[in-house]
Amino acid sequence: MTKIKATNITWHEGHVGREEREKMLNQKGALIWFTGLSGSGKSTIAYTLEHALIQRGHLAYVLDGDNIRHGLNKNLGFSAEDRTENIRRIAEVGALFIDTGVITLTAFISPYKADRDAARETVGEGNFFEVFCDTPLAVCEERDPKGLYKKARAGEIKGFTGIDAPYEAPDKAEMIIDTSKMSPQEATVALCEMLESAGKIGGLAE
Ligand code: ADX
Repeated sequence: MTKIKATNITWHEGHVGREEREKMLNQKGALIWFTGLSGSGKSTIAYTLEHALIQRGHLAYVLDGDNIRHGLNKNLGFSAEDRTENIRRIAEVGALFIDTGVITLTAFISPYKADRDAARETVGEGNFFEVFCDTPLAVCEERDPKGLYKKARAGEIKGFTGIDAPYEAPDKAEMIIDTSKMSPQEATVALCEMLESAGKIGGLAE
């Protein structure tokens, strides 16, 4: 855990709590943490789910690895240390978003188990839903939407996840999706059901 560097800082409580914001939004804050190889379908499912939730009148927002690396995390690369810091920051942002009552969807490779477990701890059990996009490497490589596997195989990118950098599969994911067998729409239905049974959103009959 990163220690607080600053001294002489004091926590300030607001006048409004998470519950009041959640009541206003008619939903409960949650973080759906998509993890998996590049090209495994994390972003596609996250954006499909975001769209479906908004259409059902729920406030949802995607934090996507490639996008966040253009801004908040633009000073981070792909060393193990930088990936850990990438995930730490997103877990903290996720915790803030949950406190606003927003259903937050994160799409990061997040290849290290310890980093994902730390994120789970930051966000808190009951708020955190780990979704493993368990798409075989061969399928991700075949899709190669950004042409990066080709570059990695040619040695033009070093330390590419799945090729010459590790991916540690989850052993306690709340859901496992193989996108070579399930469409983004089917995954979205399953994820909405998961959010419903966790009491984060009301059922379709509401
Ligand atoms: S993570 O490992 O730190 O969680 P993140 O999800 O933010 O990664 O970013 C992954 C995206 O960065 C990939 O989808 C790919 O487009 C791009 N990328 C560039 N270099 C690498 C690399 N060496 N390994 C994995 N992804 C890379």
